[in-house]
Amino acid sequence: MLKIVNVAGARPNFVKIAPVVAELRKHPSVIACKLVHTGQHYDESMSDSFFRDLAIPEPDVHLNVGSGTHAQQTAEIMKRFEPILLEERPDYLLVVGDVNSTVACALTAAKLGIGVIHVEAGLRSFDRTMPEEINRVLTDHLSDLLFVTEESGRTNLLREGIGEEKIHLVGNVMIDSLRRQLDVLGELDTLPRFGLRPQGYGLVTLHRPSNVDEQGVFEGILTALSKVAERLPLLFPIHPRTQARIAEWGFERYFADSGNRPGDRGLFRTAPLGYRDFLELMRKARIVLTDSGGIQEETTVLGVPCLTLRHNTERPSTIEVGTNHLVGTDPRKIVEEANRILDGKCKKGSLPPLWDGKAASRIVEILLHDNPLCHGL
Ligand code: UD1
Repeated sequence: MLKIVNVAGARPNFVKIAPVVAELRKHPSVIACKLVHTGQHYDESMSDSFFRDLAIPEPDVHLNVGSGTHAQQTAEIMKRFEPILLEERPDYLLVVGDVNSTVACALTAAKLGIGVIHVEAGLRSFDRTMPEEINRVLTDHLSDLLFVTEESGRTNLLREGIGEEKIHLVGNVMIDSLRRQLDVLGELDTLPRFGLRPQGYGLVTLHRPSNVDEQGVFEGILTALSKVAERLPLLFPIHPRTQARIAEWGFERYFADSGNRPGDRGLFRTAPLGYRDFLELMRKARIVLTDSGGIQEETTVLGVPCLTLRHNTERPSTIEVGTNHLVGTDPRKIVEEANRILDGKCKKGSLPPLWDGKAASRIVEILLHDNPLCHGL
């Protein structure tokens, strides 16, 4: 029996772990699989609704770490996770993505001599001011098996001296989740609820510290969004970090009167949305403006034009073959690029190789057949 402990902690993790756990559970006679939720994200909107929408089984263990500084959160996860690993003694720990939970659990396992599997390995923004970049590099160097989503991931890992035999290009588990949901989206009433019609609005998300924790940068972006919103209503589901900054700096003035609905022109706020509602809004949007990593990938698959309000991306294939444009944070450039798209000058993207909804099954296939631990199972 191959024993695997899986970890998820924050919103983007849930989307990635769902297809992996579902696929591992298809082999109960050879794989024993447990799920640990660190509690990095804990709200109904940031966590529980994702478990429901993605049909993720109830976690076997909940660490309930909650928020804190990076050191506090990372250390608290390690302290609470170590006894679980000591009790379970799995063959492997499987972590996804690049959040604090990812690196904290990978480090705990590696120190106990437990094999680490990293799903979505090798992505690099080459920007060490991003907490996620530090998490990615460290997790990859602690890992024994590295599953990458795109060719750049393999190139980056090889350049950093990671052995070729550990690296597997399998596609993108986030896209597995997206494809699984597409059939049910048509039944949702998300657009009418917001008074929107297909192609009649844009969608915005912002939560990167470099954008929302810098007052001047955030205000510049809001100025640009307000300008774009004179032409097309923009709906902005607000991440808790972003909401805290809006309140702190009195930026409510950039948002349209709450008496109006996004069917009118303007920049409209709403609470963070569940996975399905957000996908439904994304696939029918005329344009998406974001600083998220996952949304760059999802818009590429949905064929929706995406402006990434950052100076770099760790997901170059979304630019090279997808619908993503890297525009930075200069307000004039954001407005110019948005206008270009609203004038119909969009590039027609295509799909990066293996983003076909089968990444998780490739991962499990490799675990079962290319893995020395599994020989004879
Ligand atoms: C984290 C990840 C980031 C990911 C993002 C998605 C790291 C370093 N960053 O950033 O990569 O893109 O999640 O959302 O791991 N809060 C709530 N409810 C919650 C969780 C958080 O209100 O359920 C609030 C807390 O006040 C917290 C703040 O949001 O201080 C930020 O949360 P945190 O987990 O520290 O980082 P994120 O910015 O969400």
